[in-house]
Amino acid sequence: MANILDGNALAKQIKEQIAEQIARDKLEVSLAVVLVGDDPASRIYVNHKKRDCEQCGITSHEYILPAEATQAQVIELVQALNGDDEVNGVLIQQPFPMGIDVVAVNEAVSAFKDVDGFRAETVGRLAIGAETFKSCTPAGVMELIKSTGVQISGKECVVVGRSNIVGKPMALMLLNESGTVTVCHSRTRDLAEVTRRADILVSAVGVANLITADMVKEGAVVIDVGMNRGGDGKLCGDVEFAAVSAKIGDSGWITPVPGGVGPMTRAMLMSNTLAAFRMQRSSSGVCQGSRALPDDAEGERSSHRV
Ligand code: GUN
Repeated sequence: MANILDGNALAKQIKEQIAEQIARDKLEVSLAVVLVGDDPASRIYVNHKKRDCEQCGITSHEYILPAEATQAQVIELVQALNGDDEVNGVLIQQPFPMGIDVVAVNEAVSAFKDVDGFRAETVGRLAIGAETFKSCTPAGVMELIKSTGVQISGKECVVVGRSNIVGKPMALMLLNESGTVTVCHSRTRDLAEVTRRADILVSAVGVANLITADMVKEGAVVIDVGMNRGGDGKLCGDVEFAAVSAKIGDSGWITPVPGGVGPMTRAMLMSNTLAAFRMQRSSSGVCQGSRALPDDAEGERSSHRV
């Protein structure tokens, strides 16, 4: 049977390290969490993020706007949070209600407070291998992969899904670690033929049971970013967990849903928020002391370039 990647356990370790740093240095770190509308799933995610903040010693401030809020009102709130020195990070929970332009709202977030890593400039910096905030879900996936001990360099990495939040930054992060990266999407002609080549397979599509045992190879690392409701009403990912686990075997690794990527996304949000705090306090403007923004990242990355 495959090795299970326990996202809850790894996230707990990371949050404990963050809590230790914050307590030791007596830091007053804060995150603004903005929720627009009343999407029940978003409400749950926001509650989880607030609980994580508590565990880390980060103060969270919640801002709820009604579903009828206009884009201008959302942007006005974001600008007020940008200008508030007590706020280190600004997160606007997605999806937004109809009529609100995601790009316009994300672009309104200050570059110094972009803890979601969704601004175009932030993604651009990721693309060129410069130091930046890394969006939380792909950053969490990278931590999970690294925890297996499997080297990314030179491996066949297949990302299924090309969203701005996960698929695209995921591909960039794997490429920055010298993976050979293929991105698949709804127009990919023979998905199984591509995924079978993967040493590292990340599925971020949102289709239950999309990845079946015949689509993976023995020994693969399989990361399931999907969060779906199965026919039985239970939470499930994109991957047929039992059959795929059996196929990848003793040398393979797989994330469960729930308890895999989800808690790691939130741990990376905590890490980015602490990094934002340090960046805002540092006179040099260089980010310090974060897992997401390692001090030596620049040198490491340039030696990986091809
Ligand atoms: N909705 C689903 N994932 C995310 C995320 O990582 N950040 C935000 N802001 N919204 C989300």
